[in-house]
Amino acid sequence: MQIKSKQPDLPVSIFSVMSALAHQHKAINLSQGFPDFDPDPQLITLLEKHVRAGHNQYAPMPGVAELNRALAEKYRTLYNASYDPKTEITITAGATQALYAAFTATIFPGDEVIVFEPWYDAYLPMIRYNGGIPVTIPLTLPDFRIPWDEVRRCISPQTRAIVINSPHNPGGAVLSQEDIDALHTLSAAHDFWIISDEVYEHIIFDDIPHRSMARYPELARRSIVIGSFGKTFHATGWKVGYALAPEALTRELRKIHQFVTFSVHTPTQHAYAEYMSDPGRYTGLGTFYQKRRDLFLDGLRNSRFKAIRPSGSYFVLADYSAISDAPDVEFAATMTREYGVAVIPTSVFYEDGVSRGLIRFCFAKKEETLNRALEALCRI
Ligand SMILES: Cc1ncc(COP(=O)(O)O)c(C=O)c1O
Repeated sequence: MQIKSKQPDLPVSIFSVMSALAHQHKAINLSQGFPDFDPDPQLITLLEKHVRAGHNQYAPMPGVAELNRALAEKYRTLYNASYDPKTEITITAGATQALYAAFTATIFPGDEVIVFEPWYDAYLPMIRYNGGIPVTIPLTLPDFRIPWDEVRRCISPQTRAIVINSPHNPGGAVLSQEDIDALHTLSAAHDFWIISDEVYEHIIFDDIPHRSMARYPELARRSIVIGSFGKTFHATGWKVGYALAPEALTRELRKIHQFVTFSVHTPTQHAYAEYMSDPGRYTGLGTFYQKRRDLFLDGLRNSRFKAIRPSGSYFVLADYSAISDAPDVEFAATMTREYGVAVIPTSVFYEDGVSRGLIRFCFAKKEETLNRALEALCRI
């Protein structure tokens, strides 16, 4: 049999490449977006408790009821949003699977999907698997704002969805009230779904509010809101996420979900449900990470990197033009091999693959790791 690739040009994810290179050269790994510290011991104890309590068989397809209810309560309290835990909330295998279900449920062959670049690298392959056509619009540099005039120009009768990601990976920008106003105006005139990737919803700084699509009834009714427990509770390897959407849309989304995974790791869902009974465990995350962001930005001031200050997410982008004029993929490899710090080149998050001279650091690391990395970075 000849293998006929569905995505012949799709390379291995940059995260796998850079993490392998970091491992090979024993570099400090600031590339992939995960913490180098463990989740709260209380959460681990809860996970153990639920394994021992016999919660080890298939969970219900939409999620463990207690967790769906905990999420409904969170969205009610934080965003004044009303989601029915039975019919509008689905627990997925990480935000990644929620994204897959969202795109697969909404995108038909020939549909156009507006995506802003730089993007999270899963979006385009998922759109293309479904026969969709990504319409990419660059965010403005250096602040990564959405150019709404350009969005208006690109909207067509074929536009089926817009992908929003706030706080933004890798740019660190967050939606402003003007963005929400623009989305309202646009959605009043055109019919499209909003696929809203909000995995960094609690990692937001300087007292800026998170403008979840869930907050705005007119936007919520056309949105699939996606979140990740892994990002919020320092457990990316547990791979549990969720999708919130109006009932009719959730029905379609679950048709995909049930035959991709059917259901998600049962004891982890019970553990999260119990752990979330104290909202401080997620509402304090911004303060927790802001300390690390500030430590990292302060340290970079003594280096030749020029950082872009993020308002959210746990990434910092930095311009390295004072050090090298090499393209970013080459520079990132040099950083790992010669300077001992692994980073991500941002050109891989652009359709044209052209280097903008920016690399991405992940600061979800122990202070000690960040200090060691800063020492190395300041020597360059
Ligand atoms: C913007 C964005 N969306 C989704 C994901 C995937 O989240 P999960 O690990 O829950 O699948 C990530 C992970 O890095 C991300 O940065």
